Amino acid sequence: MSAQPQPRRLESIQTDRGSVPVYATGTVEQPWESYSDDDHDVWRQLYARQQALLPGRACDAFLQAQARMRMSPTQIPKFSDLNEILAAATGWQIVAVEGLLPELDFFTHLANRRFPVSWWIRRADQIDYIEEPDLFHDLFGHVPLLMDPMFADYLQAYGEGGVKAHGFGSEALMQLARLYWYTVEFGLIRQPDGLRIYGAGIVSSKGESIHCLESASPNRIGFDLERVMRTRYRIDSYQKTYFVIDSFEQLMDATRPDFAPIYARLAGQDEYAPEAVLATDHVLHTGSQVD
Ligand code: PHE
Ligand code: FE
Repeated sequence: MSAQPQPRRLESIQTDRGSVPVYATGTVEQPWESYSDDDHDVWRQLYARQQALLPGRACDAFLQAQARMRMSPTQIPKFSDLNEILAAATGWQIVAVEGLLPELDFFTHLANRRFPVSWWIRRADQIDYIEEPDLFHDLFGHVPLLMDPMFADYLQAYGEGGVKAHGFGSEALMQLARLYWYTVEFGLIRQPDGLRIYGAGIVSSKGESIHCLESASPNRIGFDLERVMRTRYRIDSYQKTYFVIDSFEQLMDATRPDFAPIYARLAGQDEYAPEAVLATDHVLHTGSQVD
């Protein structure tokens, strides 16, 4: 039995993603001493399983960043140790939180190079699937690429864009959330030696790490900013479509322009279904959509 304090859920909000729990907004101290042996064991199991899958699947930038970070494979890392390494590399910091934050708080953290990480880890019976982002997803999935200078800048710019989008209303926020989903969470990148994963939602999932690259089911389509911002996504299954960038530089260049005219142009336009393939798409693979 663990003596951990339980995360405090405040309310739920209804979004494109279904009903999403929202937690207290304050940051907490990572209660490292309160992790149980079972908690460390869940980390150890998940870490070993993903590590075995990632060579040849995760992109070089992720694998290199991960190697430089040296997270412990056997114990839940201390955020304070990782923060020293991050500070020296890109100036990013991890802050411990209860769970998903309200959008504006989340954007504000990113804009200030702070990445919120859930302090609690899933239970052993949730190894394969958990609905909410826990410590394993946040730390193993998101934190390594904060070591990469280009990706680090992208995520900060995204946060600044989010703060700004707040003034444009819910449609703009939804479009920006889709951009995050299809890049930071579920993005693929083209390397000279083939397609690779950079999205945190994929690298922290055994099933999706294999599915996104090896299954004939999903579409794999070249990244196009406005196409992505119009595409709904699934939270209850593997993605129906993955968008592929050529480099983080391409992603930066595509997202650098002022989004205000883009929000204006997209207002009231049709959305695309998660599995849609358009005549204008740069299609790498048309999904069979048979799971
Ligand atoms: N350039 C965007 C804007 O003006 C900000 C942004 C950067 C958004 C990177 C997403 C990703 O709103
Ligand atoms: Fe995430």
